[in-house]
Amino acid sequence: MSFVIAIDGPAAAGKGTLAQALSSHFGFAYLDTGLLYRAVGAAVLAGAEPIAAARSLDPSDLNPNTLRTQAVADAASRVAAIADVRTALVEFQRSFAGRDGGAVLDGRDIGTVICPDADVKLFVTASAQTRADRRFAELTAKGVKTDLAAILAEVRARDDRDQNRAEAPLIAAADAILIDTTDMTAAQALAEAITIVTAKRA
Ligand code: DC
Repeated sequence: MSFVIAIDGPAAAGKGTLAQALSSHFGFAYLDTGLLYRAVGAAVLAGAEPIAAARSLDPSDLNPNTLRTQAVADAASRVAAIADVRTALVEFQRSFAGRDGGAVLDGRDIGTVICPDADVKLFVTASAQTRADRRFAELTAKGVKTDLAAILAEVRARDDRDQNRAEAPLIAAADAILIDTTDMTAAQALAEAITIVTAKRA
């Protein structure tokens, strides 16, 4: 039996943390679809052509450790606006979603384009300031010297690009349940999501 949880939302809203925790709670497989775009972005930074890079992407390219930089995030957001890049990545995401045993996918267009028939759709968001504060705290904890104003500007620029592109823009599906984590802890967001998924599975 397959059961699909689609989680969409802007950068640094807590989607990844929530998706990972939900997948462990229910024993589902997890795909961070942002990594696909990040891998294409990284290949482009290394000199590749975006569409060719997307078509030749291999799961072994999806290494979160090397793809989590600001430069790669920015390149990912740019290649993600190219229709043929998105098309090249659809099949991999759909076949992941269709696996037996359940899957959680997070991204920007999972509930709208990739898995429009997902069993549960969550749209996870938070204010831009809160998202920038969290990213700042995360980087500072890792010992990275950074600047809050620059992070906030980057969060806003990426929101703007992701929401206003013509192809599969970031938008909540009509049947998505909104979780605004601005004033929530990760544990509270997880508890709310578990309640939603459990009710749907019953
Ligand atoms: O979730 P993330 O920050 O790793 O995503 C990086 C970029 O990839 C993001 O700015 C937009 C793009 N993306 C997308 O267009 N569609 C997805 N399903 C996932 C990510």
